[in-house]
Amino acid sequence: MVALTWAVLSAFTLAVRAGTTLWSGSFNPFTTAADFDKWSWSNQVGPYQWYIHGSQPTSRYLALSPSYKNPAHATENNGLKLSIDSTSTWNSQFERSELIPQTTANLGSGNLFYHFSVKRSATNAPDVSLIFASRDGSADIRGSKSTLEHQVCFFESHFTELKYGVGSNPTNLVWMVSGVEKWSTPFTPDAWFNFAYDINFSAGTVGLWASTGSSPLTKVVQNIAASTSTNSADWHLGVLRLVNGPGTEDWYFSGVFVENGPITTTIGSGTGGGTTTPPTSSSSTTTPTTPTTTTTATGPTQTQWGQCGGNGYTGPTVCASPYTCVAVSPPYYSQASVLPHDSLFLEAERNQPQCQ
Ligand SMILES: *[C@@H]1O[C@H](CO)[C@@H](O)[C@H](O)[C@H]1NC(C)=O
Repeated sequence: MVALTWAVLSAFTLAVRAGTTLWSGSFNPFTTAADFDKWSWSNQVGPYQWYIHGSQPTSRYLALSPSYKNPAHATENNGLKLSIDSTSTWNSQFERSELIPQTTANLGSGNLFYHFSVKRSATNAPDVSLIFASRDGSADIRGSKSTLEHQVCFFESHFTELKYGVGSNPTNLVWMVSGVEKWSTPFTPDAWFNFAYDINFSAGTVGLWASTGSSPLTKVVQNIAASTSTNSADWHLGVLRLVNGPGTEDWYFSGVFVENGPITTTIGSGTGGGTTTPPTSSSSTTTPTTPTTTTTATGPTQTQWGQCGGNGYTGPTVCASPYTCVAVSPPYYSQASVLPHDSLFLEAERNQPQCQ
């Protein structure tokens, strides 16, 4: 009786403390990797947009299994294994496998928490010490050794993100605000790292909650000023590796959801598991919205986030209004972006002419 009362009280306490899930990125609606292909610009179904990936079948980049999730996510059937390899180049020489929220919810106002858990194993581990490759894929003949930057779970403007392969300890998973390191942890194989980006879009600040395994999240970095913004469809769950590396890497994700406050700190709560109904491949009844990101340049001007410059690039260098060509990784890559305001781009701006 005593135990039952305690359990009821605990459940009640959790219920009142948890925020409301605005978008669940649970993988329960997906049975196979092919289910991710049911989403398209003209059929925007399911919880994820899937267009930022390489040329091979989706099964090469995404796979589902109960063994791919943090076991603490009890209501989720599967976790996701997300892979990048030399075939993963998308719209540039970067290798990318990224899922984007598909939702009508506003994921960019108030105080929101972007939750996810990430793991790597010793097999197909993320690269850290490759020779920096030139754009045609041959090794840099100067032999300059460099680590391979990975951008993980980032917003398009990079106001906050995780990175790997950067900083004083490139084997750490590093949390950044506007390109500046604020916190890091050794990215130990086979350990689950749970995170929530704590974003106050009203105040323009972002902080970080973190834990490992089944431990509750604790706040590890208090909120810091940042140019917080999202159009609710530019948070990238996945990995961007720059520039081309030959090796295959596997990254594992589960426990993905966005909630408003107060934060749910218990690992395994929050997504609600989601529906198990797969996204339908029949046409949606809603009118497709105009994509804010496109997969190819259309015409003489480059569209938002498309490549507009860099070594060996021969495509459009003029950006469609109101975008500016920004050298985000000179001399390799320039991208049509909104005018940069954060420190991430300042170095690039000094180094490279831009199309205004
Ligand atoms: C978010 O910022 C607004 C504006 O500064 C502030 O009023 C509000 O209390 C903040 N929310 C939280 C949860 O800190």
